[in-house]
Amino acid sequence: MKATAIARPNLALVKYWGKLNQELNLPLNNNIGITQEGLETKTTVEFLPELKEDEIEIDRKVLDKEKAKKMVKHLDRIRKLANFSTRAKVISENSFPGSAGLASSASGFAALSYAGVKAAGLELTKKELSILARKGSGSACRSIFGGFVEWVSGRTDGGSYSEQIAPPEQMDIKLLVCLVPGEKKVSSTEGHKIADTSPLLKCRLSSTKENLTKIRTGILEKDFSTLGKYSERDTITMHAVMMSSSPPLFYWSPKTLEIIKKVIELRESGTECYFSIDAGPKVHILCEEKNLNEINREIKKSGINTIISSPGEGVELTNKHLF
Ligand code: PMV
Repeated sequence: MKATAIARPNLALVKYWGKLNQELNLPLNNNIGITQEGLETKTTVEFLPELKEDEIEIDRKVLDKEKAKKMVKHLDRIRKLANFSTRAKVISENSFPGSAGLASSASGFAALSYAGVKAAGLELTKKELSILARKGSGSACRSIFGGFVEWVSGRTDGGSYSEQIAPPEQMDIKLLVCLVPGEKKVSSTEGHKIADTSPLLKCRLSSTKENLTKIRTGILEKDFSTLGKYSERDTITMHAVMMSSSPPLFYWSPKTLEIIKKVIELRESGTECYFSIDAGPKVHILCEEKNLNEINREIKKSGINTIISSPGEGVELTNKHLF
C-alpha cells in the first residue's frame, strides 16, 4: 500500500532545549509552536515485499545507510505497530532548505509518520500520531496539528504529545522567514544533550512557565503584542543557554545579529515586530499583516531573501504521489 502526506514545519514561540529522556524525546518543558503555511514537506511511503532494505530519497538524493538511520528506525516503529517486516520505498521533497533552523525534521517526521501509518493500513488518532512523530524528532509532534499548538511535555511515552490551542485563523499573524545563509554545525539532537551543562538552564526553565502562560493567553485573546514580547524573550533565554553550555553553541552568524538589531530598530520607530531564532542562523520575524511589506522591504535591503509564512494546517493526506 502507498500513501502520501504533506506536513509543515512549525515555529516555536516557547521553545524546548534539553530533554528529560533522549531516547523517547521527552522535553524538559511544555512548549508552543505555530504550524507554518508557505513551507512544506511532501512524503510518499510504499511498503514493497520485493525490497531487501528501505530505500529513502530526500530532495532527489538517495540517502546512504548512515544518513537514512533515523528514518529507518522510524519505519521500524511503524512496522512494529503494524506487525509486519516489509521494507519501504520513501520519497520526500521539501519546498525549503533543510539543516538551517527551518525545522525540516519537524515537517519531515510528521509527514513520514502519517504517510507511513496510512501505507501500513493503520488507523491512529491525531494524539497517537503525535506520540509516534515525537519519537522521530521531538518538534515533529507539534506539526501533526495546525495553527497554534502546545506540546505537553509529560514524563512517560504515552503522556508526551501535542494538542491544538487554536486553529490557524485564530489571529492576524505573519511569520517572515529571513534566509540568513549558513548551515548549523551542531544538530539539535546533539545540542539538547548538553543543555544541562549550562548554569543558566534552571533559570530559563523557570522563565518558560511565565512565557507559556502569557503566550497561551496572548493566543486566546488575540493579543499580538504579548505573544510577540514573550516569544522573543523565550528565544533570547534559549540562546543564552546554548551559548553558555559546554562546549558553547553559537548558532548565530553576523547577519543574524544584524537582523535582530533591525527588528529592534523597526520596533522603536513604531513598526511592531519580534524575532525568533531556532538552532541555526535563520531568523523568523513575527508581525501583523499591516506591517509585513514594510518589514520585508527593510530586510531585503540587507541582501537577505525571505519567505512569507502564516499559521497553517496540520498534517494531511494527498492523492498526488511522488512516485
Ligand atoms: O525537536 P528538535 O530536535 O528538532 O529540536 C528543536 C529545537 C528548537 O527548534 C531549537 C526549539 C523548538 O522547540 O522547536
